[in-house]
Amino acid sequence: MPQFSRLEKSLRPVLFYGNNPTSLIGGALTTASAFVLIGFWVVNTFGRGGSNNPYLGILFDVFLPGLFVLGLILIPIGIWLRHNRLKALGELPSIYPRIGLRDPVFRRGIEMVVAATFINFIILGTASYRSVAYMDSPSFCGQTCHVMAPQWTAYQVSPHSHVACVECHIGSGFDAAVQAKVNGTKQLIEVTFHTYPTPILAPLSVLRPARATCEECHSPTHFVGEKLLVETMYGDDEKNSVTHNILALHLGGVDSLSRQSGIHGHHLDQYEYVATDNTYQTIIAVSKHNPDGSTTQFVSSDWKGPIKGVTRQMDCIDCHDQATHTFQTAEDAIDEAMTVGSPNPALPFVHKQGLALIQAQYASQAEAATKIAAGLNDFYRAQYPAIYAAQRGAVDAAAKSLVAIYQRNVFPEMKVTWGTYTSGMGHSAPGHNPSPGCFRCHDGNHTSKDGKTITNDCSVCHNLLASDEANPKQLSDLGMQQ
Ligand code: HEC
Ligand code: HEC
Ligand code: HEC
Ligand code: HEC
Ligand code: HEC
Repeated sequence: MPQFSRLEKSLRPVLFYGNNPTSLIGGALTTASAFVLIGFWVVNTFGRGGSNNPYLGILFDVFLPGLFVLGLILIPIGIWLRHNRLKALGELPSIYPRIGLRDPVFRRGIEMVVAATFINFIILGTASYRSVAYMDSPSFCGQTCHVMAPQWTAYQVSPHSHVACVECHIGSGFDAAVQAKVNGTKQLIEVTFHTYPTPILAPLSVLRPARATCEECHSPTHFVGEKLLVETMYGDDEKNSVTHNILALHLGGVDSLSRQSGIHGHHLDQYEYVATDNTYQTIIAVSKHNPDGSTTQFVSSDWKGPIKGVTRQMDCIDCHDQATHTFQTAEDAIDEAMTVGSPNPALPFVHKQGLALIQAQYASQAEAATKIAAGLNDFYRAQYPAIYAAQRGAVDAAAKSLVAIYQRNVFPEMKVTWGTYTSGMGHSAPGHNPSPGCFRCHDGNHTSKDGKTITNDCSVCHNLLASDEANPKQLSDLGMQQ
């Protein structure tokens, strides 16, 4: 009689009863999900290309650990069932078989577990990998969830249409991953119970700082210098008269001799401000850290109370808040569409009529589509029957463009309309920008104790080479007009 260790003695009955399909499947489930989970943790901790997608929490924190536990529960259940069955048959062994690969029953059990673990691992691993790739894709963020329709629509036509949502919204690092998981779960609950806010606003405080997002791709010190902006506008008269603005924008940056100039040369890493609202539109004080270590605080003369509110370090997103989700103003949208020919500027009053139609209130995008088309047709049928008869095609094309403009910018279901999303890019100019933008600080009203004021001199930011001019000479100089 060979001597058995104590351990083997106590293991023998477990392995004997454990050799049943239920326990073996349980064991295989547990080991396979453990392998997938460990693989995911390793990739996420040490590897590149790990994912912080908020919704992956469902897969890696709920589903796979759930399978792991399920497997663990199946093992004793199988043991218990087999024990009871053998007991009922009166077939309980008086001595349990040896543990060893030479024992054919034991070997078959081991082979089954190894084979099932392997198959489970392939299935779970492939499924998890595919879910990660799917949940990280912009179409998951933008389309699965209908409440994202406004942002998804704007995103597709933006310069970032090939940058994944998670690049800007989640950033990298452990704290970002944890925060994203918390937010993701909260959002899934809000969508399930329809308690999400309309319109959805992103207070800048919940976005990742630009350093972890924008600056991963764009250098903050890139020198741009002057940037020429040419704007074409159409009038509300019968002829839709054309005028132009031409601006030389002093964008500047940091040049090769480290000199800072213009718009990009200032602001970054130097300024902190205090706002009284969550969307950072009312700024009461700005602190500027000077190179000599001192700080200059500019305070709005409209503000009499204590300097209290939300504080933020200024970065790219304070100006580029619409870097990806660019919502146009109705005027800019129709002007831009007319410069490329539709609505056709030859149609009388098409600017005035078109603007009125896209600015009217509709209950849904579908209703807008019908009413905008009907409205434009009615106008030409009643006021310009000859043109209506001769240029039916142009009227239909104009209606189509107007509907497209509306559906690109207005989402009644999400309470997103013209001007819902503010823009930090320019400043309140009638018809162009409803938000104060730069003038939140550059209003000539933010002054320091020693009497300095944040400038509102037009020429510090741009030279207005032409303003509302029909035929500016500069356009022909630039070869942009005969
Ligand atoms: C290049 C960076 C970038 C990418 C890519 C990006 N976003 Fe954004 N997103 C932003 C910024 C910046 C804001 C903040 C805008 C503001 O404060 O007004 C924002 C705001 C939002 C908001 C809040 C509503 C709003 O406009 O303020 C939602 C919702 C949103 N994004 C969804 C998405 C979805 C869905 C995708 C992918 C289809 C995506 N984002 C891709 C930068 C990005
Ligand atoms: C993953 C890389 C990536 C990230 C992150 C990113 N961008 Fe971009 N950005 C690009 C690319 C690529 C383009 C397109 C360049 C082109 O088409 O010429 C672009 C274009 C732009 C443009 C337009 C340039 C032009 O010529 O009109 C602006 C403005 C901009 N990005 C600002 C931002 C801001 C602000 C953020 C942070 C909220 C950001 N980007 C985040 C890659 C990125
Ligand atoms: C004080 C406001 C402000 C800040 C802060 C700011 N920008 Fe800009 N940026 C502008 C303006 C204004 C333009 C020109 C807009 C236009 O072309 O209509 C611009 C243009 C750009 C462009 C296009 C340049 C080109 O060659 O046409 C890129 C890219 C860009 N910014 C990236 C960034 C990044 C990245 C940051 C943060 C590191 C940043 N910006 C910070 C105001 C700002
Ligand atoms: C949060 C407040 C804030 C916002 C918003 C802001 N700025 Fe500034 N900006 C400042 C401060 C503060 C200074 C430094 C003033 C000083 O030193 O006298 C400054 C300086 C500048 C300068 C350099 C002025 C000089 O005398 O050389 C330019 C150009 C400029 N800003 C352009 C812009 C543009 C364009 C925008 C909007 C796209 C903008 N700023 C938005 C706070 C702001
Ligand atoms: C703090 C900087 C700053 C100051 C000061 C400033 N502007 Fe601007 N302005 C801008 C920027 C940035 C844009 C361009 C926005 C864009 O990219 O379309 C702009 C655009 C414009 C436009 C074109 C319309 C539009 O919104 O696109 C006009 C007109 C204009 N400014 C007039 C003025 C006049 C007049 C003054 C002086 C009373 C002035 N601005 C002062 C930064 C400034």
